[in-house]
Amino acid sequence: SADDFEYLVSKIRTIPDFPAKGILFRDFMPVFADAKAFSILMHAMEAALPVPVDQIDVVAGLEARGFLFGPALAAHLGKGFVAVRKAGKLPPPTKKESYSLEYGEAAIEVESNIITEGQRVLIVDDLIATGGSARAARNLLQACGATIAGFSFVMELDGLDGIERLGDYPTSSLLRMP
Ligand code: PRP
Ligand code: HPA
Repeated sequence: SADDFEYLVSKIRTIPDFPAKGILFRDFMPVFADAKAFSILMHAMEAALPVPVDQIDVVAGLEARGFLFGPALAAHLGKGFVAVRKAGKLPPPTKKESYSLEYGEAAIEVESNIITEGQRVLIVDDLIATGGSARAARNLLQACGATIAGFSFVMELDGLDGIERLGDYPTSSLLRMP
C-alpha cells in the first residue's frame, strides 16, 4: 500500500558529503534493522521484479550492500545466491573485472565455477549511481557463462543515467531520487 511504501522510504537515511564531499549518501541499514520495513522491502522488490520469477535461476549481489539485499531476496524468492566480491577476497580460481565508481576505482571477482553455463541471473544492489558497478557485474557474470535475466535496484540516482548505461536488459528500481 501507499502507507507501507511511505513507511519504507521513511527508514532510508540521507547523509550529505559522505563518504566524499558532494555525495548524498543513502543509508539503508535502518530498513534492515526494522522488521516491518524489511518485510515491506522484500514484498516490494518481489512485486517489482523485472521478469517473472520463473525466469530467474539465481540472484547475484554486489559487495557489500548487495549482500544485504541479495541473499534476503533470494531466500524470499526460493533462489540461490551468488556473491560478487571486491577483488582479493575470494579463493582461486576466480574471474575478475575492473570498473570505476562515482567515488573511486574498484575491481570485483566471482568464483569461476559458481555459475553453470546458461544460468539466468538476476543482479541486485541497493542503489545504482553511474551504473559502473552493475555493468562490471554484468560483464563478469556473462564471462562466467551466465545469461543476465535482469537487474533489480532499490534506488536509482537521478541524472546519472545509470540504468540507460546498463544496456537493454529488464530492469526495475523502487525509487528514483537525487
Ligand atoms: C555502492 C552501491 C553500489 C554502487 C553504485 O557501493 O552499493 O554497489 O556503489 O555506484 P555506481 O552505480 O556508480 O557503480 P560501493 O562500491 O560504495 O561499496 P559498498 O557497498 O561496499 O559500500
Ligand atoms: N549515494 C550517492 N551516490 C552513491 C551512493 C550513495 O549512497 N553509493 C554509490 N554512489
